[in-house]
Amino acid sequence: MFDPIEKLKEFIRYPSVSADSNFGEGMLGAQTFLSNLLASIGFEVEVVKTDLHPIILASRGSNPEWPYVIIYGHYDVQPADPLNLWDSPAFEPEQRGERLYGRGTADNKGPLMTHVAAVAKLLERDPDLPLRITFMVEGEEEMGSPSFPKFLERYKDRLGEADFVFLSDTGIPNEDQVVITCGLRGLVLFDIEVTTAKSDLHSGLHGGVLRNPIQALAEVCATLHGPDGRVNIPGFYDDVLDVEPWERDELVKYGTDTAAYKKFLGIPEFYAAEGFTPFEAVRFMPTLDFNGIGGGYQGEGSKSKTVIPSTAFAKVSCRLVANQDPKKIRALLYDAIAARMPKDVTFKLIDQHEGTPYVVVPPNRTNTPADQPPVLAKGFRAAHSAITDVFGKEPLYLREGGSVPIIADIKRVLGLDSVMFGLFLPEDNLHAPNESFHLGVMERGLKVSEQVLGKLARG
Ligand code: BES
Ligand code: MN
Repeated sequence: MFDPIEKLKEFIRYPSVSADSNFGEGMLGAQTFLSNLLASIGFEVEVVKTDLHPIILASRGSNPEWPYVIIYGHYDVQPADPLNLWDSPAFEPEQRGERLYGRGTADNKGPLMTHVAAVAKLLERDPDLPLRITFMVEGEEEMGSPSFPKFLERYKDRLGEADFVFLSDTGIPNEDQVVITCGLRGLVLFDIEVTTAKSDLHSGLHGGVLRNPIQALAEVCATLHGPDGRVNIPGFYDDVLDVEPWERDELVKYGTDTAAYKKFLGIPEFYAAEGFTPFEAVRFMPTLDFNGIGGGYQGEGSKSKTVIPSTAFAKVSCRLVANQDPKKIRALLYDAIAARMPKDVTFKLIDQHEGTPYVVVPPNRTNTPADQPPVLAKGFRAAHSAITDVFGKEPLYLREGGSVPIIADIKRVLGLDSVMFGLFLPEDNLHAPNESFHLGVMERGLKVSEQVLGKLARG
């Protein structure tokens, strides 16, 4: 049996940044490393080519009567920039206290390694474990999984035989309180580009006779929320799934300390949809956010550049909640923006990716589907008892604010639901400098995964 932490360090050393073509070698390194590791613990490994980054499919167990679990993960990571804000180099893992620092330690190499190590341990003890397992590990998650839907269609028959998907790519509030994630938000991303004159103009020569694109863009952007903080697009909230009373109860157990949350964020006041606590808003309500805005001169303030720029842009993203359709929401947004844009500018709305929201209801809830597959229910129960046993506290069942869009694709194409065992902490700095993974959580997570898979196999 290998040492999970040492293996994780090795994994981190491959800079597998999927979105940047300069990191091709790191992508290949991470993919080869993982393929070899899975082969070494008895898996038959197939590296599936896609238009961009390959998907690793590794399977063991072929008896069709055995329960069948797919374990999902991603071997790609976010870019590490800005590099100067890291206390130790992003791709040279460093252990400090109970944490391992490095890009991808939490999202998602650490949690993925947790499951690989759990399976390795299980199989070492019981090489004939009556359980079919397929690791399905992609390299494009951090760029919106462009190749994944096509891959699912191609492997539909084979993967569709599985009972459910098991993964750790979601969060928990603290190291003792695990969450089983029961929903993910969806996404709609797009850019707005506004153009007026055919080039930048001297504002002394021409100022006062034409509309400034920054102003036009800012005015339209300012209409997208109402004074109450709600998104001001007709129909935006129409399909939002109602919150079940049990979901609100779970959230109360999660926490009600709004002062601490405010302090964590470093803000003086919340600005959340009315009628929702901030904890509710972030899980149960959709949003519209500006991720970037620009245009015109961005240089030093001491030098002036009195220019009327010719273009301005904004990058916009919406988080959607269960029941909302990204295509429908995109159309509502584009219609409203087009109607509100001044007629004397030209503008473009440029599609970026989108993802469908997802929800799964655990067993024994008021809204559990009557036809919930028994092995899925068994998976939830096994996770519940393993978590309670290892962490000493029952898990909470919560929808998550973040997105893993392929989980809804898996449901749509393969008909499979996911049991999402949260493993990263608020302090893990996902997507940010000094990302880290808590090794105590890893150790306990490993035990949970081992128990869950063992229980599924042996009942
Ligand atoms: N692991 C995250 C999703 C996540 C983050 C879940 C925080 C729970 C809490 C995932 O890798 C991710 O970052 N997803 C992106 C979307 C993707 C399409 C780029 C996200 O949520 O922004
Ligand atoms: Mn992730």
